[in-house]
Amino acid sequence: MTNNLKEKNIVLCVCGGIAAYKSAALLRLLIKAEAKVRVIMTQNAKAFVGPLTFEALSGQPVCTSLFDDREEGAIRHIEWANQADAVVIAPATANVIGKLANGIADDALTTFMLAVTCPKILCPSMNTIMYENRAMQRNLDILEADGYKLLAPGEGELACGTYGAGRLPEPADIADRLAHTLSPKDFKGKQILITAGPTLEPLDPVRFISNHSSGKMGYAIAGAGEYRGAEVILISGPTALPSPAGVRKIDVKTAREMADAVFEHMDKAHIIIKVAAVADYRPHETAVQKIKKNTDDMIVSMKKNIDILKEAGQRKKNQILVGFAAETQDLDKNAQKKLREKNLDMIAGNLVGDPSSGFGTDTNKVTLYFSDGSKEELQLMEKKSVADILLDRILKMVAENG
Ligand SMILES: Cc1cc2nc3c(=O)[nH]c(=O)nc-3n(C[C@H](O)[C@H](O)[C@H](O)COP(=O)(O)O)c2cc1C
Repeated sequence: MTNNLKEKNIVLCVCGGIAAYKSAALLRLLIKAEAKVRVIMTQNAKAFVGPLTFEALSGQPVCTSLFDDREEGAIRHIEWANQADAVVIAPATANVIGKLANGIADDALTTFMLAVTCPKILCPSMNTIMYENRAMQRNLDILEADGYKLLAPGEGELACGTYGAGRLPEPADIADRLAHTLSPKDFKGKQILITAGPTLEPLDPVRFISNHSSGKMGYAIAGAGEYRGAEVILISGPTALPSPAGVRKIDVKTAREMADAVFEHMDKAHIIIKVAAVADYRPHETAVQKIKKNTDDMIVSMKKNIDILKEAGQRKKNQILVGFAAETQDLDKNAQKKLREKNLDMIAGNLVGDPSSGFGTDTNKVTLYFSDGSKEELQLMEKKSVADILLDRILKMVAENG
């Protein structure tokens, strides 16, 4: 997957909030991603974390004042603002938010922010009552209208001992949103519908028939699509994965629920990618009460589920339809048959069974088959990288389709 932070000039602004210590972890992540980071701190932030920490981690002088340590011939706040590719304020205090919403520039950080034209991410972090205060919410609305990207605080136990909204998001999530801001938006204006995960077909109130799909491949494509500017709807069977940021997720359990959701949303989608491992069959009947082990044998009578991919292939208009084929043998033959029979534009096939590829792994070895009969064998790689290559090929097809 492309590292969108590499070589980028990032300015990390740290305010005087209790979560300032997390900024050091964020800085480490950004440096690890090979970004060039400069830090600006408010005077009050220095009461929480020393500038030396940020100086050591960034390898650059930290700016804490407009007037001290000025580099020769440079008006630092203007120069840094001109050079920045993105700015993140984490944590952003109620005080700084109030000042920024009103155009006040009475220290290095707020003066710098008035000179910034690149994307700006603001991470409010404070006590819940402060966060919910009307003046605070009014100020956030103003800043959002002014073009700031707001990263909503998480809910949880706060340093002040209360529980509620106000926690600074985890450094990895802030870094992720920064990378998102900097990624090229080549899918802007496109809607992608993705299905992922397994389906569960209930036998009784406590048992079901399912499969080993973890949802990782579909979630990786959803995340990559969102990064690239697409509006993504992810229809997901039950998985243990966190929802990808910025993606609309619809949770389903059974194949029938998945079919309903797909057919409700597919008309508006430009691209439909069906990664879910949908159960081919479901029990004829679901017992109302838990089935007791009264007999030595148990025979479950099964009924075929709707073939969602095939139905989508019949219904598709001027849309790109992509399927996945997880096979245990004869990959070429089986994948190409599925491609033809289901009227797909592309199918990504992989052999399951290899420990480094298939269900539950973070990597996958995929072969792409196209409707013109050609195929492309990809190396073993991270599912995130497979997702990006898949989207690259889809974008090419979209361009060719006009
Ligand atoms: C222990 C302590 C923790 C604080 N935590 C926060 C906080 O998490 N968020 C916040 O907005 N203000 C917090 N404050 C209040 C700010 O430090 C105060 O409003 C200060 O003026 C902010 O300065 P700055 O915005 O210039 O950094 C805290 C104050 C103290 C004493």
